[in-house]
Amino acid sequence: MRKRLVAGNWKMNTDMNSGYLLLKDLLSEIKEDDLKSCDVHVYAPFTHLKVFHNSLNGSGIVLGAQNCHHKDSGAYTGEVSAEMLASVPVQSVLVGHSERREYCNETNEILAEKVTVALRNGLDVIYCFGETLEQREGGDHFAVVETQIKNGLGHLNAEDWSKVTIAYEPVWAIGTGKTASAEQAQEIHKHARTLIKQIANETVANNTRILYGGSVKPGNASELFGMADIDGGLIGGAALDANSFAGIIRA
Ligand code: 13P
Repeated sequence: MRKRLVAGNWKMNTDMNSGYLLLKDLLSEIKEDDLKSCDVHVYAPFTHLKVFHNSLNGSGIVLGAQNCHHKDSGAYTGEVSAEMLASVPVQSVLVGHSERREYCNETNEILAEKVTVALRNGLDVIYCFGETLEQREGGDHFAVVETQIKNGLGHLNAEDWSKVTIAYEPVWAIGTGKTASAEQAQEIHKHARTLIKQIANETVANNTRILYGGSVKPGNASELFGMADIDGGLIGGAALDANSFAGIIRA
């Protein structure tokens, strides 16, 4: 049985003060009972991580970062390494979000290196993938997703996979208010699980959590999370409101 996971990706939102207040709100909204049936992760900006680690201590909520560099260390001004994240400590890191693929030219090959360096430093990974509107309209969505998964994660062994969650985030559904229908999402999630079976094996495929992300709200979460291969969500906008985020966790 795969335990549900709801992860909040705060993106480049909140300063230290408003971020801390939001985290406090989350801590008072999310009850111990909520965490029995659902894991909860918060992917905060780098600047917030140390303070958040102290605040989340003992809460059962997992702290993550939104990115790491693909090299171990060196002359990469302004970058943050997986080792630095592990030393905060954070437990998990997002890799391959579509905004980074688009604005920072992150290729599947670079992302494969990020996954490796993150796992080597003891971090869990949420690996994001998903097609653009143009790719979907061209009928290429299955092929795009296949390349993203195989080229980004094809090198992992079964043990690596126990630390990896994947998140389907169709680019056309992110921040647009346009959610993929539960059927559209399920179809890709099922395809992704088949790909994991090909890369690893059936047990790994059955144990790997596949999240959906893209305009998830308390009102549409139950239907999405009710699908056979959707194991939770990666939440953007709605994660910035404690009440909405808790509503999604309860869905
Ligand atoms: P929205 O929930 O704002 O559409 O963002 C989804 C997302 O990109 C999460 O990583």
